[in-house]
Amino acid sequence: MTAQTERHGVADDNLPARYNGIRKTTTDLCRNLSAEDQVIQSMPDVSPTKWHLAHTSWFFEEFILAPHSPGYQRFHPRYGYLFNSYYNGVGEMHGRTERGLLSRPSVADIGAYRKHVDWHMQALLNAPDLPKAVADLILLGTHHEQQHQELLLMDIKHVFSVNPLQPAYQHPQPRDAGARRPMTFIRGKQGITVSGHNGDGFSFDNELPQHRSYLQAHAMASRPVNNAEYLAFIREGGYRRPEFWLSDGWSTIRQRGWNRPLYWSDALDAEFTLAGLQPLNPDAPVCHVSYYEADAYARWAGARLPTEAEWESMARASLSGPSGHPRHGNFMDSGYLHPMAAGAAGPAADGQPDLPVQLFGDVWEWTSSGYASYPGFRPPAGAIGEYNGKFMINQMVLRGGACVTPRDHIRASYRNFFYPDARWQFAGIRLARDTA
Ligand SMILES: [Fe+2]
Repeated sequence: MTAQTERHGVADDNLPARYNGIRKTTTDLCRNLSAEDQVIQSMPDVSPTKWHLAHTSWFFEEFILAPHSPGYQRFHPRYGYLFNSYYNGVGEMHGRTERGLLSRPSVADIGAYRKHVDWHMQALLNAPDLPKAVADLILLGTHHEQQHQELLLMDIKHVFSVNPLQPAYQHPQPRDAGARRPMTFIRGKQGITVSGHNGDGFSFDNELPQHRSYLQAHAMASRPVNNAEYLAFIREGGYRRPEFWLSDGWSTIRQRGWNRPLYWSDALDAEFTLAGLQPLNPDAPVCHVSYYEADAYARWAGARLPTEAEWESMARASLSGPSGHPRHGNFMDSGYLHPMAAGAAGPAADGQPDLPVQLFGDVWEWTSSGYASYPGFRPPAGAIGEYNGKFMINQMVLRGGACVTPRDHIRASYRNFFYPDARWQFAGIRLARDTA
């Protein structure tokens, strides 16, 4: 695949075009993958490419076609078992850690499954009397598929990383022209802030309801921590000095032998990317660090991670335009598929020079906030209520999207979440500080 691969971002008010564009983007992402590439599960958190292709189709079959398309015949009686991810309310499922054991159904079979679902979805999408509740479920299915586009890229990167041939998913892209920027700290809003989605347009349930909280005096870094800065942390013994680490973090790095970000070479001068092994760019944001590493780095740097309310308050100020989606940022749509050093675009280009850059895109930013429900949160009734709410334990919130996130998928209120030891997602670090 190349950077020029067509990607289809469309407005939410044109549901058939949105559905068809997003479905096509998913298959486009697999254009240069062989059938063998699409079968591997390189660790328990990774799903094979073909599982993503099937599971996203199952979502539409299970939650939209089966209940809302009269006379719909399922493509295969056992696919519900194979491709249900975690929805206990709709039945038993194949083990998450055993997804890489399936040579059947083949990639071709799953391609036929996608076509079957798409064909039946067209009639529903174009029905003049489509109930709003069904349209809302379809919209949810498209956002779900965009989440899996990112997962597919995260996962194939890991799959290729464990192969001694170090395959490249795509050709190296032209080196970014980002500038070396000093890190400064920008004062955030102090006082009452409003967090969460306002209910106008799509959001996931975990972004609701909108609510108020109080922000103490604080400041936030003008850009993410870059590779050169993280290298200094390593060289000053960051991974050998327990004073920087949470207890769980210290035991994790010792048990797993971690002494650098995932994908960095032994010599700390190169990193594995979706374009194969590439020289480490000192000015690009550090990526593929766990929460524990982000937190330890922040302590070493005399700072801390932002809370999600602080992050969202700053992000709202930097958003421009009425869409609610960021105008600037390195997203999946750029085709670069790797964090870039900060470029010329950003809030400054919109006449907002005093705002941070790269809040959106490049790397997800760990926050110090545990993933919990907002006050008044109510998951939807039925199995679809399992989408987010039941994961609100033992995970940390990340904000802002990454270079593998579709641009029209992200917004200021978007909450991603991972366990604190996870680092195969494109996660980086933005620092914050308490101020007087
Ligand atoms: Fe899913």
